[in-house]
Amino acid sequence: MLATNLCGIPIRNPIVAAAGTAGYGPEILEVVPASHFGAITTKSITPEGRDGNPPWRVTDLPAGMLNAIGLANLGLDRFMSEVMPELRNLDTVMIGSIAGHRIQDYHEVAKGFADDAASALKIIELNVSCPNTATGRVFGDDPALLHELVASTVPLLQGKPALVKLSPGSADPLGLARVALDAGATGLTLCNTMPAMAVDPETRRSRIGRASGGLSGPAVHPMVVKIVHDVRAGLQESHPGTPIIGLGGVSSWRDAAEFLLVGADAVGVGTGLFIDPRSPSRILRGLEKWVGRQDVDSIQALVGALES
Ligand SMILES: Cc1cc2nc3c(=O)[nH]c(=O)nc-3n(C[C@H](O)[C@H](O)[C@H](O)COP(=O)(O)O)c2cc1C
Repeated sequence: MLATNLCGIPIRNPIVAAAGTAGYGPEILEVVPASHFGAITTKSITPEGRDGNPPWRVTDLPAGMLNAIGLANLGLDRFMSEVMPELRNLDTVMIGSIAGHRIQDYHEVAKGFADDAASALKIIELNVSCPNTATGRVFGDDPALLHELVASTVPLLQGKPALVKLSPGSADPLGLARVALDAGATGLTLCNTMPAMAVDPETRRSRIGRASGGLSGPAVHPMVVKIVHDVRAGLQESHPGTPIIGLGGVSSWRDAAEFLLVGADAVGVGTGLFIDPRSPSRILRGLEKWVGRQDVDSIQALVGALES
């Protein structure tokens, strides 16, 4: 009943662990069975290993979480030798996430992810929307650069589907979505964190190690529901059937159902994993009951089924 597909790849259910919130993948499976995820996204990988930003990198806010991790990761070579062997036997679909500072960085990681040794990665996500590094959002905010990045990276993936992950802070998400799809992307992940800032009045300093970071969690959910709705509606004529992951502030089955109804094929969970690492199992149980009440055979019938 919950089985669906993402970019033509069958997935057991629509729940996707969001990049950077489930370690490289195996870590989250210490608390949630692999079968409770339709797919798991790895931390974003860059060619070189990165230590990320100075502390504090994460702080709780009343309605969400502010982070400035800064793409800390092992780098491509260590990811391939140390993590990839573990990903081969996981009982779920793995999505490999790529980030970089230059277009060549995306090329380098894309080549690694297209290699036979990376056969565990069935879908590739291009993170062009990280607010936590000096250049993280450059590609996702500039249509010409985005086109160049996607058009030159997708052919290196040797046919693996590519999702482009956009920022909720861009002025024209639909325009950028069209650019990414016209350049060869298979689908979209909507969205990354929202550029944001929080200040401690006592110290008069930023509450994280950088001046600003990315907001996630319940605070961003309604904003991203609108983005998914508007992008799905806007692509109806030009790019029907575009695979979309709705991602932002999901912590209950209701949040997930909202994303599906406005047109997401699958639903990402990020900050929800920090609030309650077992939330995917709870969300799945709720979705199953909800689908049962809707008088449909499959959850796919509810994608975009918003009543007007
Ligand atoms: C601690 C943390 C680390 C993240 N790291 C990445 C990352 O490496 N790559 C990426 O594309 N997004 C990263 N994100 C963004 C999430 O994947 C997701 O897009 C965002 O948090 C919104 O979803 P949420 O409200 O469910 O958390 C990170 C988010 C958090 C909170």
